[in-house]
Amino acid sequence: MRLAGRTALVTGASSGIGAATADALAAAGVKLVLLGTDGGRLDAVADRTGGTPLVADLGTESGLRAGCEAAAETDLLVCSAGRGYAGEFAAMPAERVAELATLNLVAPMRMARAALPAMLARGGGHLVFLSSIATVGVRDEAVYAATKAGLRAFAASLRYEIGAGRVGVTTVFPGAVNTPFFDRRGRAYDRGFPRQLEPSAVARALLAAVRRDRPEVFVPRWLTVPARLAGGVPELFHRMAARFG
Ligand SMILES: NC(=O)c1ccc[n+]([C@@H]2O[C@H](COP(=O)([O-])OP(=O)(O)OC[C@H]3O[C@@H](n4cnc5c(N)ncnc54)[C@H](OP(=O)(O)O)[C@@H]3O)[C@@H](O)[C@H]2O)c1
Repeated sequence: MRLAGRTALVTGASSGIGAATADALAAAGVKLVLLGTDGGRLDAVADRTGGTPLVADLGTESGLRAGCEAAAETDLLVCSAGRGYAGEFAAMPAERVAELATLNLVAPMRMARAALPAMLARGGGHLVFLSSIATVGVRDEAVYAATKAGLRAFAASLRYEIGAGRVGVTTVFPGAVNTPFFDRRGRAYDRGFPRQLEPSAVARALLAAVRRDRPEVFVPRWLTVPARLAGGVPELFHRMAARFG
C-alpha cells in the first residue's frame, strides 16, 4: 500500500507502540484518527500528528461501536490497544480474564468486521494486528498469550479468505518494548535479555510490512527463530523455555 494521502485509524494511539505508529504514519502523509481512553494523552499525540482524537473504551459496547463506526471509514486499521496480565492463572480474577479477551481479541475482530466490507467495496485497504512473541506460550501470562495467539490465527485465516491483492492483513509480533505496558499490567519488565526495543522500531517495521503487504513480521527479526522452533519442535522448545526462561 502507498501510504501518502491515505486515512488510518490507530487504536491505542495514546501510548507506546500505537503512539509511535501514529507519529510514523503522520510523517508518511497519512491522515489519522487516534483512539484511546486517555483524552489528555490522545490530545498530545493529535497536536504533533494533526490527527483527530477519538476517546472510546473498547472494553465497553458503546466504545466498541464508536471504534467500529470510525473503522468503517478508514483505509488502514491498526489495532494496537491492548493490556497484559502477569500472575498465576489460578489466582487471576475472572473479570480480568474477560477484560483481556474483550480488549485484545474481540475488539480487533469486531473492528476488522466493521472495516472490511468498506475496504473491499473501495478495492483496497489494510488491517494490522499487534500480536506478541508471547504466542509461543509464557509462564504466568496464559490468558494474555492466548489472546495474542487467537489474533494470529484470526489474521492468518482472514488472509486466505480475502486473497492476494485486495485488502492486506499483517500481524506484528513484538518482543519486549519499552512502553508503560509492563507497569500497567502490574509487573515491571525484569529480564536482562532480550533487551527492550524502543516503540519507534516496531512502528518502522509495521510501516514497512504494510508497504510490502507482509503477512507476519517479528520485531526484532531474530525472534522469528524461537517462533519457528516453537512451531516446528514444540516439545524441545518448551523444555528449553522452562529451563532458561
Ligand atoms: N510493550 C511490549 O513489550 C509489547 C510486546 C508485544 C506486544 N505488545 C502489544 O502491543 C500493543 C501496544 O502495547 P504498548 O506496549 O504500546 O502498551 P501501552 O503503552 O500500555 O499502550 C496501550 C494502549 O492501549 C490503549 N488501551 C488500553 N485499554 C484500552 C481500552 N479499554 N480501550 C481503548 N484503548 C485502550 C491505551 O490507551 P489509554 O491509555 O488511552 O487507555 C494505550 O494507548 C498491545 O496490544 C500489546 O499487547 C506490547
